[in-house]
Amino acid sequence: MKVTVVGAGAVGASCAEYIAIKDFASEVVLIDIKEGFAEGKAMDLMQTASLNSFDTKITGTTNDYSKTAGSDVAVITSGIPRKPGMTREELISTNAGIVKSVAENLIKHSPNVIIIVVSNPMDTMTYLAHQATGLPKNRIIGMGGALDSARFKYRLSEALGCPASDVDGMVIGGHSDTGMIPLTRLATRNSVPVSDFLSDEQMNYVKEETKVGGATLTKLLGTSAWYAPGAAVSAMVQAIGCDTQKMFPCSCLLEGEYDLNDICIGVPAIIGRNGIEKIVEINLNEAEKAKLAESAAAVSKTNSLL
Ligand code: 2OP
Repeated sequence: MKVTVVGAGAVGASCAEYIAIKDFASEVVLIDIKEGFAEGKAMDLMQTASLNSFDTKITGTTNDYSKTAGSDVAVITSGIPRKPGMTREELISTNAGIVKSVAENLIKHSPNVIIIVVSNPMDTMTYLAHQATGLPKNRIIGMGGALDSARFKYRLSEALGCPASDVDGMVIGGHSDTGMIPLTRLATRNSVPVSDFLSDEQMNYVKEETKVGGATLTKLLGTSAWYAPGAAVSAMVQAIGCDTQKMFPCSCLLEGEYDLNDICIGVPAIIGRNGIEKIVEINLNEAEKAKLAESAAAVSKTNSLL
């Protein structure tokens, strides 16, 4: 399996590193516009191969898309990250042009590629990738929900005082501070509802901290996070490469599912060799449905700025 990661910044490099460490891909190509940068990151990562016991070959290129030819999966991380105090939506004017040209270049060289979008505002950039490429809806996926759900499980495990592996839960809706919908009602600790362990106040705290998970890290780091985003993408790439049929909440183009149309937003989906194998429609209660509709209206408003 050949994977291209566009953007050799912190998220791209961490994504390439996790893919290599999991050792399921034959080749990862890092591509960046900054002269020599992707080559340098690739060489540094390759020098960890004997230490981390992987056989994946990582190469780097400065903006030469011919080197990405025949990729099975491509991850778009390019564009600017947010600075403390910024929303993801504020990045649209810079990132839209970049994501559009990256998506076009990718399919020119890899007509069968499955694209995972990470660049922000992620749901709108996923929608833009659809518009720019016209690929079938199963072949473009936005990664937000996978990351937001990992952050939700982290906050739940913290509140429960248990390992994250004990916890299950997901976040749907837009990948934004106000649009995320952490589904506390459905979250469990080893199949026991978390509401059996946590008070309403604790669950509310978990929910609010999850929603601003990215902003909290941006404030601490001075730029946006990279380890969890990189890990979330690598898990999705693995699901495609190994055809695991694993379920991730992720940004999918909806055509009537959840009563939404012509929008990319986070919903649960089965991920396998064809990308989005199936969008899963779970039973939401009235409050959750209303929140999803509200979140979708906000994403549509951002889409209208394209
Ligand atoms: C974040 O939430 C990168 O949007 C991303 O950290």
